[in-house]
Amino acid sequence: MENIIKDIDIIAPEEAQACDFKTTGDENTGKSKKLYIESYGCQMNFSDSEIVASIMKENGFDTTSDFEQADVIFLNTCSIREKAEQTVRKRLSQFNSLKKSKPEMTIGVLGCMAERLKEKLLEEEKIVDVVVGPDAYRDLPNLVSSAEDGHKGVNTFLSREETYADISPVRLNSNGVSAFISIMRGCDNMCSFCVVPFTRGRERSRDPFSIVEEAKDLFEKGYKEVTLLGQNVDSYKWSPEENNKARLNKKEEEVSSVINFAHLLEMVAKVSPKLRVRFSTSHPKDITDEVLYTIKKYDNICKYIHLPVQSGNSRVLEMMNRTYDREWYLERVSKIREILGEECGISSDMIAGFCTETEEEHRDTLTLMDIVKYDFSYMFFYSERPGTLAAKKYEDDIPLSIKKRRLAEIIEKQSTISLERNKLDVGKIQEILIEGTSKRSEEQLRGRNSANKVVIIPNHLFKKGDYVKVKITDCSAATLFGEVVY
Ligand code: SAH
Ligand code: SF4
Ligand code: F3S
Repeated sequence: MENIIKDIDIIAPEEAQACDFKTTGDENTGKSKKLYIESYGCQMNFSDSEIVASIMKENGFDTTSDFEQADVIFLNTCSIREKAEQTVRKRLSQFNSLKKSKPEMTIGVLGCMAERLKEKLLEEEKIVDVVVGPDAYRDLPNLVSSAEDGHKGVNTFLSREETYADISPVRLNSNGVSAFISIMRGCDNMCSFCVVPFTRGRERSRDPFSIVEEAKDLFEKGYKEVTLLGQNVDSYKWSPEENNKARLNKKEEEVSSVINFAHLLEMVAKVSPKLRVRFSTSHPKDITDEVLYTIKKYDNICKYIHLPVQSGNSRVLEMMNRTYDREWYLERVSKIREILGEECGISSDMIAGFCTETEEEHRDTLTLMDIVKYDFSYMFFYSERPGTLAAKKYEDDIPLSIKKRRLAEIIEKQSTISLERNKLDVGKIQEILIEGTSKRSEEQLRGRNSANKVVIIPNHLFKKGDYVKVKITDCSAATLFGEVVY
């Protein structure tokens, strides 16, 4: 097992939260210049790249999927683990010869790595022309135009207000069925291992009416599923008094009280019963019964919750500053099961080998997994990040070989549980939303059930965006197989 995971610190199912990079699709609306973007990291970064593409489009750029054709290359980067940053540096070095042969090309580093390293990136990576943090994308056209005149530029200003609410994202690489909608930015939690509060700034919620408008617009364009995105969606909070007083319009005046995440979910669910609503990420300390009852109330809110636990041991959770303990977490899971039933999908993130973690404490993570029975998980070993609370306060004292062995045990456990959970679906009738053909064969279609599991069915001439009733006939640890029910 150890060999298999030598070079990976994340194991995740298809279309994982944070694995490979994604590039731009081609868009040709007759603009004079071409932009190529590669996005790394979480869904929020992919969603941000769509905002970036929109800002650049207004300023004369179409997107291209061929970087050799590009006038501007952006890497929208992630800092979450050391490996994520190494990947970007390797990629930059691959662009070296291209830049030599085409010196007029502008290369920009965007996102979390830009925010973390600021000016230092220009010194360290000579081919980089612009460095722009997640709250400064409106300044990209200026910075790119200065770079074209030979002036390198950095803007890593973090805002307390910016939500890009008025920008209509250019959907990149979209399957035309599912889209992301950012509902908030930043994070006010201070998990001791995590770099996000430093790279993304303070938490702020986006105007709910602009969110509903975006969902409506997507539905009208044929989309059938939206995923509401935020680092901690359960702390979504918006009120006309607190947010953007200056932009009060009629609709907002009608809102008398604070809109929380449960209200927002309901507002989006009402756009159409044929629009599926998903959301990510829920924080165990904040997920309320009100949210769970709202999920139950609407068939089109998917019965799936990503509820990262990080560790199954209360002492480690305290050191991680997660502000809940094992008991609290298990109580929240019981509540999910009580209100939404056994069929509700639950997934998690886990970190193996956090500072001072003992073997016994590691086993607490394994036993918690046995109790919760996650459908799947994103699993990592701890990677110390400069500037975080853990880096300042604790020694990164678990040897890499032990971190990897513990991670391997967690992965093995998850794979057994995933298979066990999938077997429970066999024989059941479920509604799936078709996303396209199966990656293995054009003869098969690939859809997703409410619990976020991929279901493969024989091609019965359905098309992307169709809802289809299927009977689950078989499964592996990662996939369900079904046949159409007429
Ligand atoms: N806001 C989300 C997490 C975003 S980061 C939440 O609170 O759940 C995604 C995941 O990366 C985290 O859940 C955590 O499991 C992992 N992660 C974050 N920092 C890490 C680090 N320093 N080392 C290893 N994994 C880390
Ligand atoms: Fe990081 Fe914690 Fe915020 Fe998630 S909730 S982004 S893990 S600080
Ligand atoms: Fe990475 Fe930044 Fe997301 S650090 S995980 S891209 S918020």
